[in-house]
Amino acid sequence: MNTVVLDETQVDIAAAILKNGGVVGIPTETVYGLAADALNGAAVAKIFQAKGRPMDNPLIVHIADFADIERFRLAKDIPAAAKQLAKAFWPGPLTMILRRTDAVPPEVSAGLDTVAIRFPNHPVAQAVIRAADTPLAAPSANLSGSPSPTTARHVLNDMDGRIDAVLDGGASAVGVESTVITLATDVPRVLRPGGVTVEMLRAVLGQVDVDDAVLHRLADGATAASPGMKYKHYAPKANVILLHGSDSAYIEYVNAHAADEVCALCCDEDLLQLHVKTVSLGRRNDYLTHAQHLFDCLRRIDNHPAIRTVYARLPSTEGVGLAVYNRLIRAAGFEVIDLETI
Ligand code: TXA
Ligand code: MG
Repeated sequence: MNTVVLDETQVDIAAAILKNGGVVGIPTETVYGLAADALNGAAVAKIFQAKGRPMDNPLIVHIADFADIERFRLAKDIPAAAKQLAKAFWPGPLTMILRRTDAVPPEVSAGLDTVAIRFPNHPVAQAVIRAADTPLAAPSANLSGSPSPTTARHVLNDMDGRIDAVLDGGASAVGVESTVITLATDVPRVLRPGGVTVEMLRAVLGQVDVDDAVLHRLADGATAASPGMKYKHYAPKANVILLHGSDSAYIEYVNAHAADEVCALCCDEDLLQLHVKTVSLGRRNDYLTHAQHLFDCLRRIDNHPAIRTVYARLPSTEGVGLAVYNRLIRAAGFEVIDLETI
C-alpha cells in the first residue's frame, strides 16, 4: 500500500478515506496525528497496528466543537470545570479526560472508564473532522517510541506504506503534544504537560495537581494514571544525557567530552563556544521556540547515525518549559548529571 500525500485543498479526499475506515495522518497545532473514525473500532485498531502501539495505551478523540461531546455521546457526568476549560482554551492544545459512555469503542479507551477529548486549533484538522462528520481518534503519528512528528515529511518517514494518506498542513506551531488533564479525579490533575501550562490551568480552576509521573520515573510496579507515561518515549537512537548547571559549566563539560560521535542539543547563544556538532533549540529563554523545535531537533540528530551521545541542558520547569522538560527527561531515560557536584 502506498501512502498518498494530500494537500490542504484535498480535505474531502481525506474525509472519504476516514469514513471508509482508513487511517490518515493529519496536521494539528501540536503535532501530527494518526487519525481514524473514533466510532469505528475496526478502523481504530489499524492505528495501533500502523504505530506498533501497545493496545493498553488509550487514544485521544478529536472533535471540532464542544457540542460534539454530547452530539456523539462521548462522555457523561461532564463537570462544570470542563466547560470552563473549554471556554478558556479550546480550540487549543488541551486534552480533557472525562467519564466515557458506551458509544466509545473499547479500542479507543483501552479498557478504561474514561475518554480523552481534544478540540484542536488547526483549520485543516477542524475541516477534516467536520467533513468526515465523526470524531477522530488520533495518537501522535510517529512509530511508537520515536519523537512525535511536526511535519508531513516526519509522518512519511515513519509511516510510508503503513497508512492510507497524509494530509500536509505545514509545520505544527506548538511542537509538543497537548496538555492532558483529568477531570475524573476529585482535584483536576495534569497527566502530561503541554502548550496550556499548569499556571494557565490554575488561573481558571484554582487547585490543579501535577501527576508525579510528569517529573519522575514511575516506581517499579506503580500504575500509570496515563498509560502513555510508562513507555519509553521521544527517544532518538543516540544516548541523550541531560546536564544540570550554569551555561559556562555546560559548555566546559561538553567541550571536555568532544568527539566525532558527540552532538550538543543547545541554544543559539552557545553555538560559537561549542567545539562539537550542534543542534539548536533556539534562543536561551525562549521556551515556546524550544517546544516548537524539540522533536525536529531529535529527528535531525537521528539522521546522523554516527552520533552516539547527545548532551542537552536540563530544561526549566516554568511555563511551557515543563513540557520540554517532561519530553527530554524521558528521552534521557531520567539520567541527569549535576555539574555542580562533580
Ligand atoms: O497533541 C496531542 O495530544 C496529539 C495530537 C495528535 O492531538 N496526540 C497525542 O496522542 O499526543 P498520544 O496518543 O500520542 O498521547 C495521548 C496520551 C497518552 O499518554 C495516553 O496514555 C493518554 O494521552 N491518554 C489517552 N486517553 C487517556 C485516558 N482515558 N486516561 C488517561 N490517559 C489517557
Ligand atoms: Mg505519542
